[in-house]
Amino acid sequence: MTDIKVISEKLCTTGDITRDEIIYLLENRTPGIQKTLAEKASARAREYYGNKVFVRGLIEFTNYCRNDCYYCGIRCGNKNAQRYRLSIDEIVECASYGYGLGFRTIVLQGGEDQFFTDDKMTEIIRAIKREHPDCAVTLSIGEKSYETYKAFFDAGADRYLLRHETADFGHYAKLHPANLSAENRQRCLFDLKKIGFQTGAGFMVGSPYQTNENIADDLLFLKKLDPEMVGIGPFIPHKDTVFADRKAGELDLVLYLLSIIRLMLPTVLLPATTALGTIDPRGRELGILAGANVVMPNLSPVGVRKKYDLYDNKICTGEEAAECMNCLKSRISRIGYEIVTDRGDNIKYVKEH
Ligand code: SAM
Ligand code: FES
Repeated sequence: MTDIKVISEKLCTTGDITRDEIIYLLENRTPGIQKTLAEKASARAREYYGNKVFVRGLIEFTNYCRNDCYYCGIRCGNKNAQRYRLSIDEIVECASYGYGLGFRTIVLQGGEDQFFTDDKMTEIIRAIKREHPDCAVTLSIGEKSYETYKAFFDAGADRYLLRHETADFGHYAKLHPANLSAENRQRCLFDLKKIGFQTGAGFMVGSPYQTNENIADDLLFLKKLDPEMVGIGPFIPHKDTVFADRKAGELDLVLYLLSIIRLMLPTVLLPATTALGTIDPRGRELGILAGANVVMPNLSPVGVRKKYDLYDNKICTGEEAAECMNCLKSRISRIGYEIVTDRGDNIKYVKEH
């Protein structure tokens, strides 16, 4: 096996890395190599986006979900979850409130809730785009047919987040019941790309049964898909799930992977996630310093925040959106970056479309 310095040098200059090389980087991680990759990755992000950190206003509009993913606190099998859904008017009002705070991307995220039919979703997308044409609308509402995705796109949705969760079919089957498949999840992602969405994939770090080989396959899957956005964050156990007693993903491993992903996909929009801020009070700042360039504060009404309970001890569930925005602005400026309210499209996507 080649020396770790040779692998990281090649990754930094070409963005290329093989499966064996990823596994080698994972097995031989040291604070020194982690620091080098973080410096190279954050420099690479600055090359394309300067010291800007983009904000997305996240509206968690329903926690009803027809699925039963074993790791997720809002899975349908969790009878302790207090279910809620916002009305169409509340969602549109929430987006307008975010617009007033400066947000130019609104992310609508929810469980797979049958109440929100295609017609209702297209109505919401159209209403937000009608009131705020300069605002990007991102959806994160799970697996749908090609036709449904196309209808959302035609209604004006710009982006879609759908983590692939794990590229390995066997590992996927250990995290999900039999009616959910990695094959369909991946089909959705290629459909989204084909339709023209800026598409986001990703996975949890440290999910139960995850191996270094799985992570290598996840990174190579991302390289193949070439998404405009990648969302990774630590797995965090939730008390009412099958994996209640499992360990959370490790901060340093998430940071290391953020750096590797930035180097593999230089223009990608890469959030420092709320889950990262949950496992470490400085998690989001460290994420930016490792190559991330997006944060996603919560815009949902405070009354429902705690109920969108994917994992235990989630942060920012008690603050108003304006407070979260101010808190993030000062955290980010303290590390030499600046929160900006542009739409923050992927530079490569803009050039190609
Ligand atoms: N229903 C949509 C979907 O399936 O894409 C969006 C909502 S889903 C709750 C959003 C993401 O939360 C999932 O893709 C998963 O990676 C993450 N998630 C769920 N449970 C988690 C946990 N226990 N720890 C960390 N992340 C979790
Ligand atoms: Fe809702 Fe997994 S539990 S999509």
